[in-house]
Amino acid sequence: MSYRYLGNKTRLSEWIVSEIARVLPPGSSIADPMCGTAAISIALARAGYSVTAADALTFPVVHARTRLLAKQPPAFAALGGYDEALNWMRSAAPREGYFFREFGESGQPDNGRAPRLYFSARNAAHIDGIREGIRTLRSAGILTEIEHSVLLHHLILATNKVANITGTYGYFRSTLSAPSLRPLAFEPIVFEDTLGNHTVTQSAVEDLATTLTTDAVYLDPPYTKRQYAGNYHVLETLAQGDEPVAAGDGGLRPWTDQASDFCYRRSAGKAFRETLERLNVPHVFISYSEDGQVHEDELMSILSDFGKVTVHEQPHVRFRSNDRVKGGSVLEHLYHVEAI
Ligand SMILES: C[S@@+](CC[C@H](N)C(=O)[O-])C[C@H]1O[C@@H](n2cnc3c(N)ncnc32)[C@H](O)[C@@H]1O
Repeated sequence: MSYRYLGNKTRLSEWIVSEIARVLPPGSSIADPMCGTAAISIALARAGYSVTAADALTFPVVHARTRLLAKQPPAFAALGGYDEALNWMRSAAPREGYFFREFGESGQPDNGRAPRLYFSARNAAHIDGIREGIRTLRSAGILTEIEHSVLLHHLILATNKVANITGTYGYFRSTLSAPSLRPLAFEPIVFEDTLGNHTVTQSAVEDLATTLTTDAVYLDPPYTKRQYAGNYHVLETLAQGDEPVAAGDGGLRPWTDQASDFCYRRSAGKAFRETLERLNVPHVFISYSEDGQVHEDELMSILSDFGKVTVHEQPHVRFRSNDRVKGGSVLEHLYHVEAI
């Protein structure tokens, strides 16, 4: 599983895990408290680690629960098994609800703005139908937490494939693209029976840090000013299953209370320092790009206050969400801080 996500480390996961494995024997425990798509969490789990995954936002927790905790297809007793659960999603009756109104080509947003072309009318109504079905199953108490996460995981993957956007949900394209006219697709996923004991939780790293008792922590903070809560508002709404006020032309949900200090030049250095002060683990690994809000020299100076620092580098293709953003390759850094 992979989708376009700012800072997604799928392509770097082999390198990152191999560097971690030089220091941390398999069987050890490691936390990935800014897990995003859970690409590194699952790569660490495959390598034999017990993983604690977390994120400040809800949809990364849905992915992490599915990828780490669902080690085989959940029973889905209420729907007749996993394959039938997928059929149930495929055939959910369309509904002209919140997504149709706020994010569909034929919608009429509550704030009177022009229809938002995030989705074709048909896909928006299908998403509404599935959301309503999931709500009904949940309120009847016949869906386990893992089953709920697996359904939402599928809904997010299917939604991403047909979203009429150029990389993030900051805004939509002015006309519907060919992929956005395709129907939602629900393909079976591979459930991975990894060895470790994994846990998944939702929290800001600043709050979680003091509670972590793992052998190591891997930090992958945002490194640009683009806030995840705003840029992925549609996915957050799918995961939360709510109907928030959709503001302005873009229809963003209220997100400022989920804003990350790592995204602001003025607060990113302080966020690093506070997180490291609260961690009490022998090894901290940090992914950070040379494009980051905190300059290399400043980051080295902060990290050096917490232990012996080693830096590994790897060229990586820059994330490009539209033509205005520079492309090319960028140097990705993996810092290792060994407490002394
Ligand atoms: C660079 S992405 C992680 C990408 C991830 N490693 C992957 O491969 O998909 C950064 C993640 O940090 C999360 N985040 C930002 N600030 C946070 C904070 N203060 N505490 C916890 N998570 C945070 C974002 O929601 C986002 O998912």
